[in-house]
Amino acid sequence: MKKIVLSMLLAGIGLIAAEGTVPYRSGILLPPQADKIYAKECALCHGKDGKQTSFSGLTRVSYAKIAGMDTAQLAKTLKEYRGGIKSKDYQFPNKYGYGAVMKSATRDLSWEEIDAVAEYVNGLK
Ligand code: HEC
Repeated sequence: MKKIVLSMLLAGIGLIAAEGTVPYRSGILLPPQADKIYAKECALCHGKDGKQTSFSGLTRVSYAKIAGMDTAQLAKTLKEYRGGIKSKDYQFPNKYGYGAVMKSATRDLSWEEIDAVAEYVNGLK
């Protein structure tokens, strides 16, 4: 009985995913959808291809191109911006004086989602 219920649940999730109606947020059974997270949370300032190096809000801010950066370094930097880790190995970065902007961009992401996004950004060409 348990097996039947579980397989129905999985089939249902498969259907929803096929329809493309599942939001990007990962659930218990769905891995994070890094491309969707990137498009929604990052592309505005870093470009669809990760090569945009500035954006103009109240003032113009410039930063490095992120496409192709090392995955582990990206994940660590993003977790540092996000905060919530108590360790001397994780220091809040404020490279260009606009770390707060990155904090608000990453605040709602789980570590799992950050790892997935880091891999995605590393793969941007
Ligand atoms: C509202 C604009 C904005 C959004 C949205 C945004 N960023 Fe940023 N990003 C910035 C700014 C500004 C900086 C520079 C921060 C600083 O001064 O340290 C930055 C810095 C970075 C850096 C460090 C670059 C370096 O020079 O080492 C990485 C990596 C990065 N962002 C990735 C991301 C990812 C991934 C997302 C999506 C989860 C994202 N950003 C969303 C504006 C943004």
